[in-house]
Amino acid sequence: MSKTPLRARRNGDRGPAEVLLQRIERRTAHVSVIGLGYVGLPLAVEMAQAGFTVTGIDIDEARVRRLQRGDSYIQDVPTREVKALVKSGKLRATTDFSVLKKCDTVNICVPTPLSKQRDPDVSFIVAATEQVAKHFHRGMLVILESTTYPGTTDELVLPKLRQTGLEVGKDFFLAFSPERVDPGNPQFNTRNIPKVVGGVTETCTQVAVALYRQRLETVVPVSSTQVAEMVKLLENTFRSVNIGLVNELAMMCSRLGIDVWEVIGAAATKPFGFMPFYPGPGLGGHCIPIDPLYLSWKARASGFEARFIELADYINGQMPEHVVRLCSEALNRSGKALRGSRVLVLGVAYKADIDDVRESPSLDIMEKLREHGAKIEYHDPFVPSIAFAGKRMKSTALTPTTLRRFDCVVIATAHKGVSYSAVLRHARAIVDTRNALKGKRSNKVVRI
Ligand SMILES: NC(=O)c1ccc[n+]([C@@H]2O[C@H](COP(=O)([O-])OP(=O)(O)OC[C@H]3O[C@@H](n4cnc5c(N)ncnc54)[C@H](O)[C@@H]3O)[C@@H](O)[C@H]2O)c1
Repeated sequence: MSKTPLRARRNGDRGPAEVLLQRIERRTAHVSVIGLGYVGLPLAVEMAQAGFTVTGIDIDEARVRRLQRGDSYIQDVPTREVKALVKSGKLRATTDFSVLKKCDTVNICVPTPLSKQRDPDVSFIVAATEQVAKHFHRGMLVILESTTYPGTTDELVLPKLRQTGLEVGKDFFLAFSPERVDPGNPQFNTRNIPKVVGGVTETCTQVAVALYRQRLETVVPVSSTQVAEMVKLLENTFRSVNIGLVNELAMMCSRLGIDVWEVIGAAATKPFGFMPFYPGPGLGGHCIPIDPLYLSWKARASGFEARFIELADYINGQMPEHVVRLCSEALNRSGKALRGSRVLVLGVAYKADIDDVRESPSLDIMEKLREHGAKIEYHDPFVPSIAFAGKRMKSTALTPTTLRRFDCVVIATAHKGVSYSAVLRHARAIVDTRNALKGKRSNKVVRI
């Protein structure tokens, strides 16, 4: 992709693209981010650290108030950094969308959940786009970052912005750039994860690439918004399908009396052509359990059945029930039934060392155990309380005495700070869904 067409005209008739590009390169552009969650807040902070004046917009008043005080609510974003940026005036937060009138760029980072029927719920994208359209102006760059089905930017966002009478690629610029952030990952973050960008026109791509290049280490332009949208769905479908495969293998190995963890560990010694994925209690978080279904929905609408995606979703969805069966097996060894037993679920965050419980399979396991008549408590060093069975439940402290109080402990998330040797020493029966007790042999442990 060449930058020549934009640069060549710099000294003559400066169109909106040249003006915006210059503002971006001089970092005088006013940047905005809609949706200040796990994706939007780190991005807003990076852009402010690049030297842009950044305004974050969110409908959640409590979040906005905390940011205005310089207080971070996202684990990977240190309060110290937010405070410094707020103090210097580089970062602001508001619930007032009219600020968009003064913004040169806007990144949309709102949620994309599933509806009750497990179809894409793009209502947050639609609501955010309507706000952008309301305060739209010539020269604006709009980038959608929310994960969504291929075609969303062109079919949903573009028509709303075109209604303003402005022309894409000339008067305004529109692109899609998938967010790949991995909360809790100490090595990869918003800044050093390569950023894929696809614009509606080549100029749209150039302007969007220029914005990200001011701060992000690697930017990867692609030929269209649809390709950029599909990249993210390929990545997450790849994970979902491979996890589905090892989950099926784990259930198979359990029937055949083979240790699936040992099998995967040995297979992973192959230096080429194999990538290890691990079984677990089910998929969680706002991405892997949801995103592939955006793709299968879109494929279905075009008369194509995405069978790998549907099968992986089915198998991964069976895992909480499988864990409940393992729990029954563990209790059975000491002549106990699930009904009336006290079960401690260890870890409710959907993955290790984070505080996010969205779509967490632990909650599903807890609910199923409760339906079987078990008395449930949980421990999670990152999650002090959760909504469970219509009430607020607090995390139970993890001590030798409390561990001995339970008939069974289910290790559902392998947070690093937990002493699993203490769990092994004091718990009466254990279901280990994460191989947290790797290499430790004991009759009281049932592994996935
Ligand atoms: N969490 C992740 O690890 C991750 C990683 C990659 C991609 N994504 C994708 O990024 C998108 C955002 O996910 P997230 O985890 O940051 O969500 P989040 O729930 O943490 O944050 C979304 C924010 O958007 C706000 N919001 C909702 N509707 C709004 C509106 N109309 N206007 C303004 N603000 C609004 C919410 O109040 C919330 O603060 C999703 O599409 C998700 O699939 C998430």
